[in-house]
Amino acid sequence: MVQDEYRDMCETYLMRNFGRHMLITHGKGARVWDDEGNEYIDCVAGIAVCSTGHCHPKVSEAICRQAKELIHISNLFYIPGQAELAKRIVEKSGIKGGRVFFSNSGSEAVEAAVKLARVRTGKKRFIAFKSGFHGRTFGALSLTHKEDYRLPFTPLPYDCSFVEYGDIEGLKAVMDDTVAGGNPGTGAGRGRSLPPRTGRVPGGGAQRVHRE
Ligand SMILES: Cc1ncc(COP(=O)(O)O)c(C=O)c1O
Repeated sequence: MVQDEYRDMCETYLMRNFGRHMLITHGKGARVWDDEGNEYIDCVAGIAVCSTGHCHPKVSEAICRQAKELIHISNLFYIPGQAELAKRIVEKSGIKGGRVFFSNSGSEAVEAAVKLARVRTGKKRFIAFKSGFHGRTFGALSLTHKEDYRLPFTPLPYDCSFVEYGDIEGLKAVMDDTVAGGNPGTGAGRGRSLPPRTGRVPGGGAQRVHRE
């Protein structure tokens, strides 16, 4: 199918909430191809989530196997493989007594982390960096500074103070006993990750809220 026809169909039938660019038809490893056969190195990787590349044979095989065994039975039942994966993640993380919460998206992970921080601390305020992006659900948006994302949906449920990334003094200024947690994000917003230039993030009894 040619790109223009497909773009017209998307415009007609899909919500126009994302700006899309090319028609990518398939991928292998770190490479993807468009509908005209042009080959690209995929530096986007699903916004940094396709860590095993496209269509790794072991990943494809595992997805196909699961689809033939059981599609979905909700969290009302034990599911083979789930606890094994959680065990491996906890062991790899090195967090003693750690437990895993599986979710479907980054936004959902941020929502869960923010809720956990509130329940754990009994506090309601959060801190996030101005350049960070945390997702589009209401809770995740509360921690996202960019006005284009936030303003159409205010008031948002969580009270959040924003500071410039790496501004340790600014961070100290907004940190007090009312803070439930902070989302350090990965730096300079969507598509870029930068280590902070100065110092470390002060704790002050707040929970560290982070999806990774
Ligand atoms: C740093 C960060 N947090 C959260 C999200 C939200 O993830 P999702 O789009 O899976 O809800 C994104 C998505 O781009 C992200 O880059």
